[in-house]
Amino acid sequence: MATGPLVSIVMGSDSDLSVMEESAKALKEFGVEYEMIITSAHRAPDMTTDFAKNASKRGVQVVIAGAGYAAHLAGVIAAHTVIPVIGVPLAVSPLQGVDSLLAMGQMPGGIPVATVTIGKAGAKNAALLAVEILALSDKALHDKLIDYRKKMAKDVEEKSRKLKK
Ligand code: RP5
Repeated sequence: MATGPLVSIVMGSDSDLSVMEESAKALKEFGVEYEMIITSAHRAPDMTTDFAKNASKRGVQVVIAGAGYAAHLAGVIAAHTVIPVIGVPLAVSPLQGVDSLLAMGQMPGGIPVATVTIGKAGAKNAALLAVEILALSDKALHDKLIDYRKKMAKDVEEKSRKLKK
């Protein structure tokens, strides 16, 4: 049985790292094991294909793929595996990630990529969505998500309370 990381955070370039670290941070908070990989659909197509074809065998259950510009990474990975793939569009091009958002969100019927918003909030939400997927078969993780939401609501209430003083 595979005992590797449950989530793979993949990105197109080392220049994507500072944003994709938001995914890592969120997964760490939930105690979910992950790995980080740099590969490129365009610059390293064979590596990308090998990764996607072997991810399931290695025990990976969700892939988070961040990329900028034409951003084919998530789609190419999704084409080679039935593991859920979450795409994070990155604001690195002159079009500020709108290009990547549209590319990732416009997958043809049959090969889904769950596309989140551009940049750090997207990277964070991709990790939370991955945790939600894993929590479907992990009660402890489910409970952690409930606590996380409760804390978030409390924080907002606290901010509002401070404002009223
Ligand atoms: C994309 O091209 C990568 O995901 C990155 O966001 C962008 C630019 O890469 P570098 O030129 O900085 O390596 O494929």
